[in-house]
Amino acid sequence: MEEKREIKILGIESSCDETAAAVVVNGREVLSNIISSQIDIHTLYGGVVPEIASRKHIERVSQVVERALQTAQVTLDDIDAIGVTYGPGLIGPLLVGVSAAKAIAWAKDIPLIGVHHIEGHISANYIENKELEPPFGCLVVSGGHTHLVLVKDYGEYEILGKTCDDAAGEAFDKVARAIGLGYPGGPKIDKVSKEGNPIAIEFPQGKVRGSEYDFSFSGLKSAVLNYLNACHMKGEEISVPDVAASFQKSVVDVLVSHSMRAVSEYHFKKFAIAGGVASNSALRAAMEEACRKRGIRFYRPSPILCTDNAAMIGAAAYYDYRKGIRSDNSLNAIPNLKLGER
Ligand code: KG4
Ligand code: ZN
Repeated sequence: MEEKREIKILGIESSCDETAAAVVVNGREVLSNIISSQIDIHTLYGGVVPEIASRKHIERVSQVVERALQTAQVTLDDIDAIGVTYGPGLIGPLLVGVSAAKAIAWAKDIPLIGVHHIEGHISANYIENKELEPPFGCLVVSGGHTHLVLVKDYGEYEILGKTCDDAAGEAFDKVARAIGLGYPGGPKIDKVSKEGNPIAIEFPQGKVRGSEYDFSFSGLKSAVLNYLNACHMKGEEISVPDVAASFQKSVVDVLVSHSMRAVSEYHFKKFAIAGGVASNSALRAAMEEACRKRGIRFYRPSPILCTDNAAMIGAAAYYDYRKGIRSDNSLNAIPNLKLGER
C-alpha cells in the first residue's frame, strides 16, 4: 500500500488555563491554531484557580475544536489522529481535554495519541524550523517546569538538569505579584524591565550548590522579597523597573550559563529554547548571543508557540504517530507525568 503523504493531526491542549486546538500537517505545517485564554478570569484571583479553569475548559473545548477544524478547512473525516496532552498539568483541566479527545476518537474511530506537555513545548521548535532534527539541546522554561534536556531523537529525551523548587515562570509570577504587577507576571516583568537597570540590584543566581545543571529559584524569590521589605522598613522608594530588570537578569544569567555549559560538555551543534518563559525578550537575546559566540545554531519558537498552544501537541503527536504509538480508550490524565515516561 502506498504511504499517505499528508498526515493531519488534531491537537488538543488543556493542561492549565488555555483551551487550545490545532490542525497540523506532518508535524510541521500549522493549518489552524486556536487558543482560548482564561487569563482575564484568573487575573481577578492573582493566579490560576484550578476549579474555575476546569469549568471554563468544559464550556469552551467543543467550540475551540470546531473552530480549529473550520479554520483549517477540514472535517473530522480528514483527521488521521488526535493528539492530546495527558500530563503533566492540573488534573481537572487535563481531564477535560483527555475526555474530549477520547470521545471524538471513539465516535469517529480515529487513532488517539496521548502527548507529554513538555514534549509538546520542545516540538514547537519543529514548526517554524523545517530543517531542525534531533539531536539538539533544549532548555524548557515554563510556569510549571525548568528542564535542561538532551533531545536524542524524536520522543527520546535525557534530562540533564531541572529545578529543585520553583519553576522559572513561577518565580516571574511570584516576583511580579510582590512588586504589584499582577498576573501573569512574566510578560509584565519583561515589559517593565525595558525601562529598568539590570545591574541596579545584585540578586543571587538561581543555582544549586554542587550541581552543574540543576536550578533553584526560591532563594532568588526570597532575596527579592527581603529587598522589598528592607526598602519598606527604611522608608526607601522602590524602583519597580530596576527590581524587575535586576531579577530578570539574575534568572536569564543562570539559564544561559547552565545551557552553555551543557553545549560545551555535550558538543551540541544546535540549541533550542521552549515554554512560556522562552518568549522573554532578554532570554531570547542572551541565548542568541551566547549561541552565536559559540558558532552553534539557535532555535526559538515565535512567542505564540512558546506559551501553551495545541499546534505543539499536534507536532509532537505526529512523531509518535509515525512510530506507531497509539493510546487506547483507557488513556487517563497524569498530573505529574515524567518526561520520557508513557
Ligand atoms: O508554557 P506556559 O504557557 O505554561 C506552562 O506550561 O506553565 O508558561 C507560562 C509561564 C508563566 O509563568 C508566564 O509568566 C511565563 O510563562 N511567561 C513569561 C513571558 N511570557 C510568559 N516569562 C517571562 N517573560 C515572558 N515574556
Ligand atoms: Zn506549558
